[in-house]
Amino acid sequence: MSMVLVTGGAGFIGANFVHYLRRQRPEWQILNLDLLTYAGNPENLAELEGDPGHILVPGDIADRELVTSLFQRYPITRVVHFAAETHVDRSIMDPGVFVRTNVLGTFTLLEAARQAWQGLKGEEPRFLHISTDEVYGSLGPDDPAFTEATPYSPNSPYAASKAGADLLVRSYYRTYGFPALITNCSNNYGPYQFPEKLIPFALSQALAGKPVPIYGTGANIRDWIFVEDHCRGALLVLEKGRPGETYNLGGQQEKPNLELVRLLLQLLREMRPELGQPEELITFVTDRPGHDWRYALNTAKIEGELDWRPQVDLEEGLRRTLSWYLAHQDWLERVRSGAYRDYLRRQYGAAVV
Ligand code: NAD
Ligand code: DAU
Repeated sequence: MSMVLVTGGAGFIGANFVHYLRRQRPEWQILNLDLLTYAGNPENLAELEGDPGHILVPGDIADRELVTSLFQRYPITRVVHFAAETHVDRSIMDPGVFVRTNVLGTFTLLEAARQAWQGLKGEEPRFLHISTDEVYGSLGPDDPAFTEATPYSPNSPYAASKAGADLLVRSYYRTYGFPALITNCSNNYGPYQFPEKLIPFALSQALAGKPVPIYGTGANIRDWIFVEDHCRGALLVLEKGRPGETYNLGGQQEKPNLELVRLLLQLLREMRPELGQPEELITFVTDRPGHDWRYALNTAKIEGELDWRPQVDLEEGLRRTLSWYLAHQDWLERVRSGAYRDYLRRQYGAAVV
Protein backbone atom coordinates (compact mmCIF):
# COMPACT_ATOMS: atom_id res chain seq x y z
CA MET A 1 0.00 0.00 0.00
CA SER A 2 1.33 3.46 -0.85
CA MET A 3 1.64 6.20 1.66
CA VAL A 4 1.30 9.96 1.79
CA LEU A 5 3.78 11.90 3.89
CA VAL A 6 2.08 14.98 5.35
CA THR A 7 4.48 17.39 7.06
CA GLY A 8 3.22 19.81 9.70
CA GLY A 9 0.03 17.78 10.09
CA ALA A 10 -0.40 18.74 13.76
CA GLY A 11 -0.65 22.44 12.91
CA PHE A 12 -3.69 24.41 11.79
CA ILE A 13 -4.04 23.67 8.06
CA GLY A 14 -2.11 20.39 8.26
CA ALA A 15 -4.47 18.95 10.90
CA ASN A 16 -7.51 20.08 8.92
CA PHE A 17 -5.97 18.42 5.85
CA VAL A 18 -5.27 15.15 7.69
CA HIS A 19 -8.91 14.98 8.87
CA TYR A 20 -10.12 15.88 5.37
CA LEU A 21 -7.93 13.17 3.84
CA ARG A 22 -9.17 10.51 6.27
CA ARG A 23 -12.73 11.34 5.15
CA GLN A 24 -12.03 11.68 1.42
CA ARG A 25 -9.38 9.00 0.90
CA PRO A 26 -9.88 6.50 3.74
CA GLU A 27 -7.78 3.94 1.88
CA TRP A 28 -4.66 6.15 2.03
CA GLN A 29 -2.07 5.65 4.77
CA ILE A 30 -0.90 8.94 6.26
CA LEU A 31 2.55 9.42 7.77
CA ASN A 32 2.46 12.73 9.63
CA LEU A 33 5.89 14.26 10.36
CA ASP A 34 5.66 17.20 12.76
CA LEU A 35 8.17 18.73 15.15
CA LEU A 36 5.35 19.68 17.53
CA THR A 37 6.59 23.23 17.98
CA TYR A 38 4.40 25.69 19.91
CA ALA A 39 2.09 25.67 16.84
CA GLY A 40 1.86 21.88 16.53
CA ASN A 41 -0.61 20.21 18.84
CA PRO A 42 -1.26 16.45 18.99
CA GLU A 43 -4.66 17.33 20.50
CA ASN A 44 -5.64 18.48 17.01
CA LEU A 45 -5.38 14.82 15.99
CA ALA A 46 -6.99 13.28 19.07
CA GLU A 47 -9.91 11.88 17.05
CA LEU A 48 -7.43 9.75 15.10
CA GLU A 49 -6.07 7.90 18.12
CA GLY A 50 -6.02 4.20 17.32
CA ASP A 51 -6.70 4.86 13.61
CA PRO A 52 -4.35 2.52 11.69
CA GLY A 53 -4.47 4.89 8.69
CA HIS A 54 -2.55 7.62 10.51
CA ILE A 55 0.92 7.55 12.05
CA LEU A 56 2.28 10.63 13.83
CA VAL A 57 6.09 10.89 13.82
CA PRO A 58 7.37 13.68 16.06
CA GLY A 59 10.45 15.04 14.29
CA ASP A 60 12.16 17.77 12.33
CA ILE A 61 11.89 18.13 8.53
CA ALA A 62 15.45 19.51 8.60
CA ASP A 63 16.79 16.30 10.21
CA ARG A 64 18.35 14.63 7.17
CA GLU A 65 18.86 11.26 8.84
CA LEU A 66 15.30 11.03 10.09
CA VAL A 67 13.73 12.15 6.81
CA THR A 68 15.90 9.77 4.76
CA SER A 69 15.04 6.89 7.08
CA LEU A 70 11.31 7.57 6.69
CA PHE A 71 11.62 7.31 2.90
CA GLN A 72 13.59 4.06 3.31
CA ARG A 73 11.18 2.54 5.79
CA TYR A 74 7.82 3.51 4.28
CA PRO A 75 6.50 3.28 0.68
CA ILE A 76 5.96 7.06 0.40
CA THR A 77 4.77 8.09 -3.06
CA ARG A 78 3.12 11.41 -2.25
CA VAL A 79 4.26 14.31 -0.09
CA VAL A 80 2.09 17.23 1.04
CA HIS A 81 4.44 19.69 2.69
CA PHE A 82 2.80 22.08 5.18
CA ALA A 83 5.48 22.18 7.91
CA ALA A 84 6.81 25.70 8.39
CA GLU A 85 7.25 28.55 10.76
CA THR A 86 4.28 30.67 9.75
CA HIS A 87 3.74 33.79 11.83
CA VAL A 88 4.95 37.05 10.27
CA ASP A 89 5.34 38.86 13.63
CA ARG A 90 7.50 36.06 15.02
CA SER A 91 9.63 36.17 11.87
CA ILE A 92 10.33 39.82 12.60
CA MET A 93 11.41 38.97 16.18
CA ASP A 94 13.40 35.83 15.37
CA PRO A 95 14.04 35.21 11.64
CA GLY A 96 16.68 32.45 12.02
CA VAL A 97 14.27 29.60 12.72
CA PHE A 98 12.24 30.61 9.65
CA VAL A 99 15.27 30.19 7.40
CA ARG A 100 16.16 26.90 9.04
CA THR A 101 12.74 25.28 8.88
CA ASN A 102 11.28 26.85 5.77
CA VAL A 103 14.36 26.83 3.53
CA LEU A 104 16.65 24.14 4.91
CA GLY A 105 13.74 21.92 5.96
CA THR A 106 12.19 22.08 2.49
CA PHE A 107 15.58 21.37 0.90
CA THR A 108 16.04 18.33 3.17
CA LEU A 109 12.66 16.91 2.18
CA LEU A 110 13.26 17.56 -1.51
CA GLU A 111 16.63 15.80 -1.41
CA ALA A 112 15.32 12.77 0.47
CA ALA A 113 12.34 12.43 -1.88
CA ARG A 114 14.46 12.91 -4.99
CA GLN A 115 16.84 10.16 -3.96
CA ALA A 116 14.10 7.78 -2.85
CA TRP A 117 12.11 8.27 -6.05
CA GLN A 118 14.97 7.74 -8.51
CA GLY A 119 14.11 4.70 -10.59
CA LEU A 120 10.83 4.17 -8.72
CA LYS A 121 8.55 1.79 -10.58
CA GLY A 122 4.74 1.80 -10.53
CA GLU A 123 2.82 4.75 -9.17
CA GLU A 124 3.97 8.23 -10.32
CA PRO A 125 5.17 10.07 -7.21
CA ARG A 126 4.13 13.67 -6.43
CA PHE A 127 5.37 16.36 -4.07
CA LEU A 128 2.97 19.21 -3.24
CA HIS A 129 4.61 22.21 -1.63
CA ILE A 130 2.14 24.43 0.24
CA SER A 131 3.03 28.09 -0.04
CA THR A 132 1.54 31.52 0.42
CA ASP A 133 0.41 34.61 -1.47
CA GLU A 134 2.87 36.65 0.65
CA VAL A 135 5.74 35.66 -1.68
CA TYR A 136 4.32 38.03 -4.31
CA GLY A 137 4.69 41.10 -2.07
CA SER A 138 2.10 43.79 -1.52
CA LEU A 139 -0.63 45.34 -3.73
CA GLY A 140 -1.96 48.89 -3.83
CA PRO A 141 -5.73 49.45 -3.56
CA ASP A 142 -6.36 49.36 -7.33
CA ASP A 143 -3.69 46.90 -8.47
CA PRO A 144 -4.83 43.75 -10.26
CA ALA A 145 -4.68 40.55 -8.18
CA PHE A 146 -1.50 38.42 -8.18
CA THR A 147 -1.32 35.77 -10.91
CA GLU A 148 1.03 32.78 -10.99
CA ALA A 149 3.27 34.89 -13.28
CA THR A 150 3.66 37.78 -10.83
CA PRO A 151 7.37 38.13 -9.93
CA TYR A 152 8.27 37.27 -6.34
CA SER A 153 8.81 40.27 -4.07
CA PRO A 154 8.59 39.09 -0.44
CA ASN A 155 8.70 41.71 2.32
CA SER A 156 8.94 39.86 5.66
CA PRO A 157 11.51 37.27 6.73
CA TYR A 158 8.61 34.77 6.76
CA ALA A 159 7.63 35.59 3.17
CA ALA A 160 11.26 35.58 2.05
CA SER A 161 11.86 32.15 3.59
CA LYS A 162 8.75 30.77 1.86
CA ALA A 163 9.87 32.36 -1.42
CA GLY A 164 13.29 30.70 -1.00
CA ALA A 165 11.60 27.34 -0.48
CA ASP A 166 9.34 27.84 -3.52
CA LEU A 167 12.35 28.63 -5.71
CA LEU A 168 14.14 25.48 -4.56
CA VAL A 169 11.06 23.41 -5.36
CA ARG A 170 10.84 25.02 -8.79
CA SER A 171 14.54 24.32 -9.44
CA TYR A 172 14.08 20.63 -8.58
CA TYR A 173 11.42 20.34 -11.27
CA ARG A 174 13.49 22.21 -13.88
CA THR A 175 16.80 20.51 -13.10
CA TYR A 176 15.84 16.97 -12.14
CA GLY A 177 12.33 16.62 -13.56
CA PHE A 178 11.28 16.13 -9.92
CA PRO A 179 7.44 15.84 -9.78
CA ALA A 180 6.76 18.96 -7.73
CA LEU A 181 3.70 21.20 -7.61
CA ILE A 182 3.20 24.42 -5.66
CA THR A 183 0.08 26.09 -4.31
CA ASN A 184 0.09 29.74 -3.16
CA CYS A 185 -2.84 30.37 -0.88
CA SER A 186 -4.36 33.43 0.80
CA ASN A 187 -5.21 33.91 4.51
CA ASN A 188 -6.83 30.79 5.97
CA TYR A 189 -9.18 30.69 8.94
CA GLY A 190 -11.17 27.95 10.67
CA PRO A 191 -10.92 25.33 13.44
CA TYR A 192 -7.57 24.59 15.14
CA GLN A 193 -5.89 27.88 14.16
CA PHE A 194 -3.33 28.93 16.76
CA PRO A 195 -4.53 32.08 18.58
CA GLU A 196 -1.66 34.29 17.46
CA LYS A 197 -3.19 34.89 14.01
CA LEU A 198 -5.73 37.69 13.64
CA ILE A 199 -9.07 35.85 13.76
CA PRO A 200 -8.47 33.40 16.63
CA PHE A 201 -6.44 35.99 18.54
CA ALA A 202 -9.19 38.63 18.31
CA LEU A 203 -11.71 36.01 19.35
CA SER A 204 -9.72 34.73 22.32
CA GLN A 205 -9.06 38.29 23.52
CA ALA A 206 -12.76 39.15 23.23
CA LEU A 207 -13.77 36.00 25.13
CA ALA A 208 -11.38 37.05 27.90
CA GLY A 209 -12.72 40.65 27.86
CA LYS A 210 -9.25 41.92 26.85
CA PRO A 211 -8.20 44.49 24.20
CA VAL A 212 -8.37 43.37 20.57
CA PRO A 213 -5.32 44.98 18.91
CA ILE A 214 -5.52 46.31 15.37
CA TYR A 215 -2.25 47.29 13.70
CA GLY A 216 -2.07 50.80 12.25
CA THR A 217 -5.44 52.03 11.04
CA GLY A 218 -6.88 48.58 10.29
CA ALA A 219 -7.15 49.46 6.58
CA ASN A 220 -4.76 46.73 5.38
CA ILE A 221 -6.58 44.19 3.26
CA ARG A 222 -6.37 40.41 3.28
CA ASP A 223 -8.20 37.81 1.18
CA TRP A 224 -9.82 35.20 3.45
CA ILE A 225 -10.36 31.52 2.65
CA PHE A 226 -12.07 28.93 4.87
CA VAL A 227 -9.56 26.20 5.60
CA GLU A 228 -11.73 23.41 4.19
CA ASP A 229 -11.74 25.13 0.78
CA HIS A 230 -7.93 25.15 0.94
CA CYS A 231 -7.83 21.44 1.84
CA ARG A 232 -10.10 20.57 -1.09
CA GLY A 233 -7.90 22.60 -3.44
CA ALA A 234 -4.70 21.02 -2.13
CA LEU A 235 -5.99 17.47 -2.68
CA LEU A 236 -7.17 18.38 -6.17
CA VAL A 237 -3.77 19.83 -7.11
CA LEU A 238 -1.98 16.83 -5.59
CA GLU A 239 -4.04 14.40 -7.68
CA LYS A 240 -4.81 16.33 -10.86
CA GLY A 241 -2.42 19.30 -11.07
CA ARG A 242 0.36 19.36 -13.67
CA PRO A 243 3.84 18.74 -12.19
CA GLY A 244 6.07 21.80 -12.46
CA GLU A 245 3.07 24.13 -12.16
CA THR A 246 2.04 26.63 -9.53
CA TYR A 247 -1.63 27.23 -8.63
CA ASN A 248 -3.07 30.20 -6.75
CA LEU A 249 -5.81 29.35 -4.24
CA GLY A 250 -7.76 32.30 -2.90
CA GLY A 251 -11.02 32.91 -1.11
CA GLN A 252 -12.10 35.81 -3.35
CA GLN A 253 -13.13 37.63 -0.17
CA GLU A 254 -11.04 40.72 0.42
CA LYS A 255 -11.68 42.70 3.59
CA PRO A 256 -9.87 45.47 5.45
CA ASN A 257 -8.76 44.16 8.86
CA LEU A 258 -10.92 46.51 10.87
CA GLU A 259 -14.07 45.53 8.94
CA LEU A 260 -13.22 41.86 9.33
CA VAL A 261 -12.73 42.14 13.10
CA ARG A 262 -15.93 44.17 13.47
CA LEU A 263 -17.86 41.48 11.59
CA LEU A 264 -16.30 38.74 13.72
CA LEU A 265 -17.15 40.52 16.97
CA GLN A 266 -20.67 41.31 15.80
CA LEU A 267 -21.25 37.61 15.05
CA LEU A 268 -19.78 36.76 18.44
CA ARG A 269 -22.22 39.17 20.12
CA GLU A 270 -25.13 37.46 18.33
CA MET A 271 -23.94 34.04 19.48
CA ARG A 272 -22.96 35.12 23.01
CA PRO A 273 -25.11 38.15 23.98
CA GLU A 274 -23.87 37.89 27.58
CA LEU A 275 -20.47 39.21 26.39
CA GLY A 276 -21.97 42.71 26.00
CA GLN A 277 -20.36 44.87 23.30
CA PRO A 278 -17.10 43.11 22.28
CA GLU A 279 -16.56 45.71 19.49
CA GLU A 280 -15.64 48.17 22.24
CA LEU A 281 -12.50 46.09 22.93
CA ILE A 282 -10.96 47.11 19.56
CA THR A 283 -7.71 49.00 20.26
CA PHE A 284 -5.37 50.52 17.67
CA VAL A 285 -1.70 49.65 18.25
CA THR A 286 1.66 50.36 16.55
CA ASP A 287 1.78 49.01 13.01
CA ARG A 288 3.74 45.90 11.99
CA PRO A 289 7.11 46.89 10.43
CA GLY A 290 6.98 46.45 6.63
CA HIS A 291 3.25 45.64 6.88
CA ASP A 292 2.02 44.51 3.45
CA TRP A 293 -0.91 46.68 2.37
CA ARG A 294 -3.05 44.23 0.44
CA TYR A 295 -3.09 40.67 -0.89
CA ALA A 296 -5.43 39.43 -3.61
CA LEU A 297 -5.16 36.34 -5.80
CA ASN A 298 -6.29 35.73 -9.34
CA THR A 299 -7.52 32.12 -9.29
CA ALA A 300 -8.50 31.79 -12.97
CA LYS A 301 -5.87 29.05 -13.53
CA ILE A 302 -7.14 26.58 -10.93
CA GLU A 303 -10.76 27.39 -11.81
CA GLY A 304 -10.11 26.75 -15.52
CA GLU A 305 -7.82 23.71 -15.23
CA LEU A 306 -9.19 21.93 -12.18
CA ASP A 307 -12.67 23.41 -11.75
CA TRP A 308 -11.89 24.53 -8.17
CA ARG A 309 -13.55 27.54 -6.58
CA PRO A 310 -14.12 28.45 -2.94
CA GLN A 311 -17.49 27.26 -1.59
CA VAL A 312 -17.71 28.84 1.87
CA ASP A 313 -18.44 32.58 2.03
CA LEU A 314 -16.88 34.72 4.72
CA GLU A 315 -19.89 35.10 6.98
CA GLU A 316 -20.70 31.38 6.91
CA GLY A 317 -17.03 30.53 7.47
CA LEU A 318 -16.78 32.92 10.41
CA ARG A 319 -19.94 31.45 11.96
CA ARG A 320 -18.53 27.92 11.59
CA THR A 321 -15.20 29.07 13.05
CA LEU A 322 -16.85 30.82 15.99
CA SER A 323 -19.02 27.77 16.71
CA TRP A 324 -15.94 25.58 16.77
CA TYR A 325 -13.99 27.84 19.14
CA LEU A 326 -16.99 28.33 21.42
CA ALA A 327 -17.38 24.56 21.64
CA HIS A 328 -13.63 24.10 22.26
CA GLN A 329 -12.82 26.76 24.84
CA ASP A 330 -10.90 24.13 26.83
CA TRP A 331 -8.62 23.68 23.76
CA LEU A 332 -8.10 27.45 23.65
CA GLU A 333 -7.31 27.56 27.38
CA ARG A 334 -4.72 24.78 27.10
CA VAL A 335 -3.09 26.43 24.08
CA ARG A 336 -2.77 29.74 25.95
CA SER A 337 0.25 28.40 27.85
CA GLY A 338 3.03 30.27 29.64
CA ALA A 339 5.18 30.44 26.49
CA TYR A 340 2.21 31.85 24.58
CA ARG A 341 1.74 34.61 27.13
CA ASP A 342 5.47 35.46 26.99
CA TYR A 343 5.17 35.92 23.24
CA LEU A 344 2.09 38.16 23.59
CA ARG A 345 3.88 40.30 26.15
CA ARG A 346 6.84 40.78 23.80
CA GLN A 347 4.60 41.51 20.83
CA TYR A 348 1.88 43.71 22.35
CA GLY A 349 3.05 44.78 25.81
CA ALA A 350 1.40 44.17 29.17
CA ALA A 351 -1.62 46.42 28.42
CA VAL A 352 -3.00 43.98 25.84
CA VAL A 353 -2.15 40.77 27.67
P1 NAD B 1 0.96 26.41 11.73
O1 NAD B 1 1.98 27.35 12.26
O2 NAD B 1 -0.38 26.35 12.36
O3 NAD B 1 1.53 24.93 11.74
C1 NAD B 1 2.84 24.63 11.33
C2 NAD B 1 3.12 23.18 11.70
O4 NAD B 1 4.45 22.87 11.26
C3 NAD B 1 3.09 22.93 13.21
O5 NAD B 1 2.39 21.74 13.47
C4 NAD B 1 4.55 22.80 13.59
O6 NAD B 1 4.77 21.96 14.71
C5 NAD B 1 5.14 22.20 12.32
N1 NAD B 1 6.58 22.47 12.19
C6 NAD B 1 7.22 23.66 12.37
N2 NAD B 1 8.53 23.51 12.19
C7 NAD B 1 8.73 22.19 11.87
C8 NAD B 1 9.88 21.41 11.54
N3 NAD B 1 11.11 21.95 11.53
N4 NAD B 1 9.71 20.10 11.26
C9 NAD B 1 8.47 19.54 11.28
N5 NAD B 1 7.36 20.22 11.60
C10 NAD B 1 7.49 21.53 11.88
O7 NAD B 1 0.86 26.75 10.17
P2 NAD B 1 -0.39 26.78 9.18
O8 NAD B 1 -1.05 28.09 9.29
O9 NAD B 1 -1.16 25.52 9.34
O10 NAD B 1 0.38 26.76 7.78
C11 NAD B 1 0.72 25.52 7.15
C12 NAD B 1 1.40 25.82 5.81
O11 NAD B 1 0.52 26.57 4.98
C13 NAD B 1 2.68 26.64 5.95
O12 NAD B 1 3.61 26.15 5.02
C14 NAD B 1 2.24 28.05 5.58
O13 NAD B 1 3.31 28.79 5.03
C15 NAD B 1 1.18 27.76 4.54
N6 NAD B 1 0.14 28.79 4.42
C16 NAD B 1 -0.55 29.21 5.52
C17 NAD B 1 -1.57 30.15 5.37
C18 NAD B 1 -2.38 30.64 6.55
O14 NAD B 1 -3.17 31.57 6.37
N7 NAD B 1 -2.26 30.05 7.72
C19 NAD B 1 -1.85 30.67 4.10
C20 NAD B 1 -1.10 30.23 3.00
C21 NAD B 1 -0.12 29.27 3.16
O1 DAU C 1 -1.57 35.47 3.29
C1 DAU C 1 -1.25 34.21 3.77
C2 DAU C 1 -0.56 34.34 5.09
O2 DAU C 1 -1.56 34.75 6.03
C3 DAU C 1 0.13 33.08 5.57
O3 DAU C 1 1.15 32.75 4.68
C4 DAU C 1 0.69 33.28 6.97
O4 DAU C 1 1.25 32.06 7.46
C5 DAU C 1 -0.43 33.71 7.89
O5 DAU C 1 0.08 33.97 9.18
C6 DAU C 1 -1.12 34.94 7.34
O6 DAU C 1 -0.26 36.11 7.41
P1 DAU C 1 -0.82 37.54 7.87
O7 DAU C 1 0.30 38.34 8.37
O8 DAU C 1 -1.69 38.12 6.82
O9 DAU C 1 -1.80 37.02 9.06
P2 DAU C 1 -2.07 37.57 10.54
O10 DAU C 1 -3.24 36.80 11.06
O11 DAU C 1 -0.85 37.65 11.36
O12 DAU C 1 -2.55 39.07 10.27
C7 DAU C 1 -3.66 39.35 9.41
C8 DAU C 1 -3.75 40.86 9.28
O13 DAU C 1 -4.17 41.39 10.55
C9 DAU C 1 -2.43 41.54 8.96
O14 DAU C 1 -2.70 42.66 8.13
C10 DAU C 1 -1.92 42.02 10.32
C11 DAU C 1 -3.20 42.30 11.08
N1 DAU C 1 -3.16 42.06 12.55
C12 DAU C 1 -2.68 40.86 13.00
C13 DAU C 1 -2.63 40.58 14.35
C14 DAU C 1 -2.09 39.26 14.85
C15 DAU C 1 -3.64 43.01 13.43
O15 DAU C 1 -4.12 44.09 13.01
N2 DAU C 1 -3.60 42.73 14.77
C16 DAU C 1 -3.10 41.56 15.27
O16 DAU C 1 -3.07 41.39 16.51
